[in-house]
Formats: sequence, structure tokens, C-alpha cells
Amino acid sequence: MKRVFSGVQPTGDLHLGNYLGALRQFVELQEDHECVYCVVDLHSITLPQDPKELRQHIYDVAALYMAIGVDAKKSTIFIQSEVKEHAELSWILTCSSYTGELSRMTQFKDKSKGNESSPAGIFCYPTLMAADILLYDTDVVPVGNDQRQHIELTRDLAIRVNNRFDKKVFVVPEGRYLKEGARVMSLDNPTSKMSKSAENQFSKIGLLDDDNKIKKSIMRATTDSEANVRFDIENKPGVSNLISIYSAFSGKSASEIESMYEGKGYGDFKKDLAEVAIESIRPIRERFYEIRKSDMLTKALDEGAEKARAIAEITMKRVKEQFGIGR
Ligand code: AMP
Ligand code: TRP
Repeated sequence: MKRVFSGVQPTGDLHLGNYLGALRQFVELQEDHECVYCVVDLHSITLPQDPKELRQHIYDVAALYMAIGVDAKKSTIFIQSEVKEHAELSWILTCSSYTGELSRMTQFKDKSKGNESSPAGIFCYPTLMAADILLYDTDVVPVGNDQRQHIELTRDLAIRVNNRFDKKVFVVPEGRYLKEGARVMSLDNPTSKMSKSAENQFSKIGLLDDDNKIKKSIMRATTDSEANVRFDIENKPGVSNLISIYSAFSGKSASEIESMYEGKGYGDFKKDLAEVAIESIRPIRERFYEIRKSDMLTKALDEGAEKARAIAEITMKRVKEQFGIGR
């Protein structure tokens, strides 16, 4: 069975972009893959976090994995910092990376903005992500489009190390990106991606938002003055983003949606989309609160860390042997 690995940072509430781009794939893959899903807390401290909030967010992300349908009996759910091999392999991969390639990462450039007092963790972030993936001999990595560059770097590092030792030290992973939902845009500014850190709460739909907030966010979403439900990213980014969201939730194609709303205005379209989104998010939210209260969560995380460690230890032993460290 092929192995899947993915992770989400415990920074703030997860939104529709996280769900439609990445999380939705987690559930579908667990039927015929061996899946390992991680709460990547070491990644989240690349920027300062409030320690009390961070701990709550770690549980929140793990509970959300389960609320969307990740089954702890089929898949492994664990917290990154509880498996020390992530940090260990990350250092080894940092030593196998070039400063040039790391400084070309878009996420690094966006977050550091050339500021010399940016934490070095933002710079090394992709080597930690590569360690996460390579530690589990991962075949497939389900993520949103914004992670493409990091996945490519992970592949480059795996190939570089394999070539250096003329041996298959690492499995070379593939990214898995969805057609609809791989890049959900912000509702108030459809030319930038929906983001956890956005200030306007109506720019995003949180997976824990109540029905009213979901409806309001969609009804307020930026469109255009053409009043024609048509998919055209270049000229109609707002409407196209809403069509993509509709499509991701309903399984209908963009052209099916266009014909459903032929001759109708944005009001009808938005009202229906709100309904579709509300009906899809409500069960997730309700299940989340049940799981968060129960002791299922700690049990799943304890077992998950143990299963993850068992795999990570074997890989690390092989890697150390190759590099000649330890004895
Ligand atoms: P993060 O919240 O940055 O840890 O992202 C978790 C996952 O959600 C990653 O696989 C991202 O690629 C994905 N993701 C984040 N924002 C979006 C978005 N606006 N559209 C689609 N996928 C996203
Ligand atoms: N960098 C990813 C993000 O910001 C999160 C992440 C960390 C990840 N390690 C990973 C995703 C390993 C997939 C696989 O979204």
C-alpha cells in the first residue's frame, strides 16, 4: 500500500481553503493508502506564538482531522514535536540544502520581506517540511497549490541524497493537488489566497463558523458589475472563486453551474452557494465539538505518536548509517 503524509500548522482556525485544498483529500485517501497525518507544531513556531493558545490549537487541528472524517483506526494522527526524529532529520537535510534554493522560496520571501531580523526558522522551514515527508518513506503528499514549491524542493533533496550515496536512501514523493479547491481565494480580495492571518473575518470561512457567519461571508463576497455567473478567472476572479467553491462542495462542474444560473443574478447564486456551504460545514463543526470534549483525542494522539515513532526510528537509523553519524 502506498504511503501518504501531510500536515497542517496549528496556527489559528482552519478555513475553507485548508479544507478544500488539502484536508478533503485526507479522508478520500485513507481508503486505499496508509495515511500519516501530522499536526506540525514545530513549523508554527517559525513565527512567535502564544504558548497557551498554541497548545489549544494543536488539539483543535487534531480534532478537526477527526471531525472531517479521518479515522484514527485507519490512519495515524500525531503531533510533530512528539516524534524527535523530525528535528533530527531536518538538520541533516539543512546540511544537504543550498542557501540559494532556500532563499528562492516564495513563502520565505513573503514572510521575511528581506528583513534581516527575520527568524532563521522561516528560512529553514522547507527542510523541516522535507524531513516530515521523507521520514515516512512517503509516496503521496496531499496539499494545496501554495505548497508546490516546497514539494519540489523535497523531491530535489531526496534525489540529491540518493545520488550522493548512489543508493535509495529516500523515497521520492509526489505532491497531490486537486483540480477544484487547490487555491481558494480570499472572499473580499479574490486575487490573494484565503489566509488564516487575514484581518477581515469575512474574507474567509472558518470550519468552525456558525451558519450565520458563513452566509454573511458569502453574501458579502466581492463579485463584479456584470451580473453573469460565468467562470473567467482573469476578468471575473470573484465569481470564478465562488464557482470553484460551489464546484468543490457539490461535485458539479463549472459549466454545469454556469447553466444552472443562466439568466439569474448573483443573489440567487450566492444564496444557493451559502446553503451548500452551510450544509457541508455544519456536520464538521458539530462533530468537532463532540470530539474536542471526549477522550478520543488524547487516545488517538498517544497511539498515533507511537505508530509514527516506529516508522521514523527505522528511517533515521538508515539515514545516520549512510551519513556516517553516530555509531
Ligand atoms: P497551512 O494552514 O498553511 O498549514 O496549510 C494547510 C494546508 O492547507 C496546506 O496543504 C495548504 O496548501 C492548504 N491551503 C492553505 N491555504 C489554502 C488556500 N487558500 N487554498 C487551498 N489550499 C490552501
Ligand atoms: N508547510 C505546510 C503549510 O504551510 C505544512 C506542512 C509542514 C506540511 N510539513 C508538511 C504539509 C509535510 C505536507 C507535508 O501548509
